[in-house]
Amino acid sequence: MKNILITGGAGFIGSHVVRRFVTNYPNYHIFNLDALTYAGNLENIADIENAPNYTFVKGDITDETFIANLFFKHQFDAVIHLAAESHVDRSITDPLAFVRTNVIGTMILLNAVKTSWKSSDSSKRFYHISTDEVYGSLGETGLFTETTAYDPNSPYSASKASSDHFVRAYGETYGLPYVITNCSNNYGPNHFPEKLIPLFIHNIINNKPLPVYGDGKYTRDWLYVIDHARAIDLVFHKGKNHETYNIGGFNEWQNIDLVKLLCEKMDEKLNRTPGTSAQLITYVKDRPGHDLRYAIDASKINRELGWKPSVTFEEGLEQTIDWYLTNQKWLDHVTSGDYQGYYEKQYGE
Ligand code: NAD
Ligand code: DAU
Repeated sequence: MKNILITGGAGFIGSHVVRRFVTNYPNYHIFNLDALTYAGNLENIADIENAPNYTFVKGDITDETFIANLFFKHQFDAVIHLAAESHVDRSITDPLAFVRTNVIGTMILLNAVKTSWKSSDSSKRFYHISTDEVYGSLGETGLFTETTAYDPNSPYSASKASSDHFVRAYGETYGLPYVITNCSNNYGPNHFPEKLIPLFIHNIINNKPLPVYGDGKYTRDWLYVIDHARAIDLVFHKGKNHETYNIGGFNEWQNIDLVKLLCEKMDEKLNRTPGTSAQLITYVKDRPGHDLRYAIDASKINRELGWKPSVTFEEGLEQTIDWYLTNQKWLDHVTSGDYQGYYEKQYGE
């Protein structure tokens, strides 16, 4: 039995990764460490909470003593690190929170691993989950490859870039067996409704304005979250030490086109007259430092590990909308309390 620590497993992507590992690998004991911030929700993984190879640990990766004790107690064989502050808009209002969790929290995990593992033991693995945002913004053409220079523009992406650098530095300096992946925008079930797709689904259901930043011509490369979890599984097991892999959807959309498609699909699902939801589109003040375009060249992970997305955007969006429509209780729970205060501050309602 291997003891595997997954951080941030009560969040959006982490919950899909935890479910996959608990279900597919009975010979792993999965420890899910999560501080349960506003973005963490045990409802995301309620279906596996009683699995014999699963333990939830509530705790903060920035608590050095707690983390040291946890490593001492469980002697982890590997770490898959997803815990982070993840929303760009929040990083603009509270950048320090991003330094604390994304930089210092990652450092504390790295130090725990360094104390716990012999540098020569290549059976261990520290897997750091990162983002394409570290590469900054593309113009109208081109793709991010693994060798694109880091050029982060938001406090969020700067904090993720910093954590990537520390992971690599621990590999070079102390022989840490690590792997890093940089992924594009995920979407799917359990996505917190502060991010574009779930926020707009929630607002359409409630007939609220759809706040499109700037001219809406910003472009993102969307990947279904289950396909990201598949890629993480593959890289964890087959990826080479000290390597980086880019993961993307081969699926670029300008925000405004994506929003119009979402409106059409929601009208169908809600039996509304075509064009009803699109009337909610409202252009609002732009995000400061807004990156124009992200697009991933995922040919390395395809060539070396055989990964490619399994779900088309049509299918993924359909499944996502259906999930939100059948899980309105989940939406009600996560949008009560603090969410209202955040929404007023961000969108001035
Ligand atoms: P999320 O915000 O949905 O979840 C983050 C989780 O981390 C939450 O459960 C939260 O409670 C936990 N957490 C936050 N601070 C913590 C702390 N100090 N200690 C312990 N737990 C803490 O995020 P997500 O969208 O699932 O992203 C997961 C990871 O993937 C992040 O590292 C993010 O940078 C990266 N990523 C996200 C995307 C995306 O599109 N969402 C794309 C590429 C990479
Ligand atoms: O690229 C990967 C990154 O994708 C992840 O690392 C981040 O954790 C994740 O949050 C996401 O970042 P984005 O900033 O791209 O995602 P978001 O959903 O916040 O915004 C997507 C696009 O939609 C972006 O161009 C901003 C725009 N937008 C967003 C919101 C919330 C709007 O126009 N209006 C909005 O209200």
